[in-house]
Amino acid sequence: MQYGSYCPQMEDVSAVGGEMQYDAYDLGLLQQPVIDRRTQAAEGRARLTLPHSASQAAPRSFVQPTQRVERDTEPIEPARYAPSHFTYDGGLVARSSSSQNELASSPAYKANERRHHYFGNLDHQLPQENTVNERYQEDEERHVADTVPQRITNSLNLPHAPRMLVQGIELVSTHELPDRFRAIFPFPVFNAIQSKSFKTAFQSNDNLVLSSPTGSGKTAVLELAVCRTANIFPVGQYKIVYQAPTKALCAERQRDWQKKFGSLGLDCAELTGDSNASDLKNVQSATIIITTPEKWDSMTRKWKDHEKLMQLVRLCLIDEVHILKEARGATLEAVVSRMKSIGSQIRFVALSATVPNSEDIATWLGKDPNNQHLPAVRERFGEEFRPVKLQKHVCGFQSNGNDFAFDQTLSQKLPNVIAKYSHRKPVMVFCATRQGTQSTAKLLAEWWAKASPMGRYWEAPRKRIKMIDPNLQDCVDSAVAFHHAGLELADRHAVETAFLEGSVSVICCTSTLAVGVNLPCHFVVIKNTVTYAGGVGMKEYADLEVMQMLGRAGRPQFDDSAVAVIMTRQEKVRHYEKMVSGQEVLESCLHLNLTDHLNAEIGLGTITDAYSAKTWLTGTFLYVRMKQNQNHYRLEGDIGSGDLDERLDRICNRDIELLQEYELVTSDSKLETTEYGGAMARYYVNFATMKVFMDLPPKAKVSDILAALSKAAEFQELRFRAGEKSTYKILNDNPLMRYRIPVDLALSAHKVSLIIQTVLSSIDFPDEEKSRKHRAQYNTEVAIIFQHVHRLIRCIIDCQIQRDDPVSARNALMLARSLGARVWDDSPLHMKQIEGIGPITVRKFVNANIKTIEDLERMESHRIEGLVSRNPPFGAKLIDKCRAFPKLRISLSAGHNSVSKRNEGVILNMKAEIGFLNEIVPVQFNRKAVYVCFLAESSDGRKLHFCRISAKKLDKGQDILFSALLTSSTQSVTCYVMCDDIAGTMREASVQPKLPLSMFPAPKLQSADDSELRGNKEPRKSGINNSHPRNFNVPARGHSKLKTCWE
Ligand SMILES: Nc1ncnc2c1ncn2[C@@H]1O[C@H](COP(=O)(O)OP(=O)(O)OP(=O)(O)O)[C@@H](O)[C@H]1O
Ligand SMILES: [Mg+2]
Repeated sequence: MQYGSYCPQMEDVSAVGGEMQYDAYDLGLLQQPVIDRRTQAAEGRARLTLPHSASQAAPRSFVQPTQRVERDTEPIEPARYAPSHFTYDGGLVARSSSSQNELASSPAYKANERRHHYFGNLDHQLPQENTVNERYQEDEERHVADTVPQRITNSLNLPHAPRMLVQGIELVSTHELPDRFRAIFPFPVFNAIQSKSFKTAFQSNDNLVLSSPTGSGKTAVLELAVCRTANIFPVGQYKIVYQAPTKALCAERQRDWQKKFGSLGLDCAELTGDSNASDLKNVQSATIIITTPEKWDSMTRKWKDHEKLMQLVRLCLIDEVHILKEARGATLEAVVSRMKSIGSQIRFVALSATVPNSEDIATWLGKDPNNQHLPAVRERFGEEFRPVKLQKHVCGFQSNGNDFAFDQTLSQKLPNVIAKYSHRKPVMVFCATRQGTQSTAKLLAEWWAKASPMGRYWEAPRKRIKMIDPNLQDCVDSAVAFHHAGLELADRHAVETAFLEGSVSVICCTSTLAVGVNLPCHFVVIKNTVTYAGGVGMKEYADLEVMQMLGRAGRPQFDDSAVAVIMTRQEKVRHYEKMVSGQEVLESCLHLNLTDHLNAEIGLGTITDAYSAKTWLTGTFLYVRMKQNQNHYRLEGDIGSGDLDERLDRICNRDIELLQEYELVTSDSKLETTEYGGAMARYYVNFATMKVFMDLPPKAKVSDILAALSKAAEFQELRFRAGEKSTYKILNDNPLMRYRIPVDLALSAHKVSLIIQTVLSSIDFPDEEKSRKHRAQYNTEVAIIFQHVHRLIRCIIDCQIQRDDPVSARNALMLARSLGARVWDDSPLHMKQIEGIGPITVRKFVNANIKTIEDLERMESHRIEGLVSRNPPFGAKLIDKCRAFPKLRISLSAGHNSVSKRNEGVILNMKAEIGFLNEIVPVQFNRKAVYVCFLAESSDGRKLHFCRISAKKLDKGQDILFSALLTSSTQSVTCYVMCDDIAGTMREASVQPKLPLSMFPAPKLQSADDSELRGNKEPRKSGINNSHPRNFNVPARGHSKLKTCWE
């Protein structure tokens, strides 16, 4: 039999002598009542040491196979498996470590077993006695030998207690901590990795890099560092920042730490993409800030605004630092490098999965703020410290056909893989595409249905489950389901619940199930290591995705052993083998969007010239890696030759030139960001997107701006999926589509534009059979688009105001109001913003000639009720709501002695009076603070004034004074006032001063057509435009106070 497989040496629990030895963990556990541990495990605070059947939360283990069942197992056909380079000789699969008679190395598991042995529990599925593993694996983890302490002075040293050694490491009791911290650790003794790190984490200020396997208890080391900080700084005089790569991890940490540290007076505040303004307030008062690198990046990009807060940061905890190798790791790298440069007193503690070059992370972080030339303290632990024994197998298969054919081949192999490795426990199969999840589920369901009851590898469903999707319904009858983001939400939840309850035993899913949903299982199969990535077709998973998928197997609190199989192409085996064994070198990704980060640093003042750019670059992880692996880092425009020094110079110069070319930074000797570069950093806009925004034509129309938004790099993954185009063609031809796409639908930008307009015009998603299945995907993409679009449009507005282009700014503001309200600003649909009014009600009102909220407010309540067939008090309530809708007023006049003659024309001193018509000033609308924008322009398209005022300051109205230069007697001044993000709120006022012709210079031959410039209405035309060349002056940042406008 030839079969590619990777089995790390984890079956290392060997008896040491005949006499039973307890490790400290066992001792601790044996002192606790069983029920305590069960509760802890259910809460995720401890490993599950009870037999599976005794746990509520644990996935079920199926009826253990009898010998007869084993015989029914279909043997894997050797010939079908192509040999991999690490092919074992015949029988590897048979010898594979997946045998049921193997034990987890988890001491908890062993303790439990002994507990049953001693206390008469009859769970005999566990094997014979095992003892503490003191075996020392020299070949596997030599570094551990290098660092094993002679004796940790803080270890538990009670005269009556035995020395407790695990893997040669003496365990430390939690009693070594001051009493007030003890409750943070819900166990009596630190485990080996925690004990080994105790001294550095709790008794020193050194930076620390800890790399150890999943579930080995790394979080406690962070908690020790928090305790250290709390011990040396008075409350209120420091902040701690914890960064994790996903919101789900942050949410979990927030819950856990608020409970643990809140009682010590150390409040935690979560600052993630989902956080709102009040969370920002909590951050001011909290001690521990829990955030993602992206969010912390955007905070620290404005760090001068939050300078006090930033200066208080004393400790930065980085969870899952190995994301450095993912594209988004660049953000982490930039933000940590920035924190090193702005906060001189920050200690770093970073946690990583097993990586071979954790010393590079240590070099990057430095020993402490004053000893950056020395590396941070590094602790590295191997697989033998993994509490849940996870057998990982990488199976390579010969691929002769295309992606589709290869995927089919893997599907055919899948039953054998399940037969061999599943231990008849729950299985999760990760598939490359949504379609793949469905076809794989179907295949497995049929396989199960055809097999004899004894030859089945999972139980029949315990109860009948109802699903909306008929295909899903067919599968769940065989206890198999599929799960992907395109499923109806109700079906998705039903599948998840059924899996946890045991009514579904096999889930075929896409990688989305690996994050967010806590569905642990015994056996994970990654069937094919590629995934569908829009128009680029299939692409290999990111490493983090693979690790997250593998991580579904054997969560420590649920299981004691687990199995994971990666099925991939033969040539990829080596790569995955290295990955799962933690041998893959961690590289940087900062070079991929270096331009964005350089722009942000120039804005912060960290970089002021090419020299300081290079200095900044040498403080990054990228630099640490470039020194060792130059060839890996090929940058666009960099020929890759010369020594490292030359290359760094070239990289810095090239990026600075690019930023200057697009007028994002000044060309002075001291580099500064322009207002445009400032907006790019402030709104977190990708450089590629910024180039599109900077190419907007002067006096851009709504359609131009919509087209630019749709082209944003942030949306480039939203491509047309197979079969979707016909649905989007129907949408494109809908008469309500304002800016239809006049060419064949092909680009992401086409799709994005159509989606945005479908929402703004409340167009019904086509209900044809072939469209219905794309609805869920459409909803997902609407969510993605509206997640980014607000900051993007704000960036455009800021740039256009700065450009002194009031026409573009006004159109962008109109689009911003539409996007904020999710209806076109100038359509009767804006009535939808009133709670209780939907598109059908709007249609009824429009038929009765009610087109605005003011019209509605003037109605009698019984007429409203008659129109929409509702009973009182519906009408009266609706009128009340309309009364609360923000209604602005504006008047405009030329002040006294307001005219003065100049060479270029006449200067008029203008006065605009603005305020609300509402009886009570609407400080909030739909639970959001209301802001008002004021824009004044001349009829020839020059910006005269712009400001943004909080509604709070308008309770008595406000006069806005500004001067207007008119260059011809026909020109007028128009002012606009509007609420941000609230559709239908714009009001305007114009003044056409009657001044004698003699006051103006002789008219020039060419003058702009005022009416064209004033117009907002455009003919139906393309929503995607070609760019026009840029043509405007660029003031350096600081010339205006625009930045504060939006805050
Ligand atoms: N000394 C200990 N004694 C008993 N249980 C412990 C101990 N330390 C940690 N645990 C438990 O082990 C489980 C895993 O811990 P933790 O989440 O910190 O692991 P991790 O190394 O961060 O894993 P991952 O890589 O998945 O993030 C938790 O349920 C925790 O309560
Ligand atoms: Mg962790």
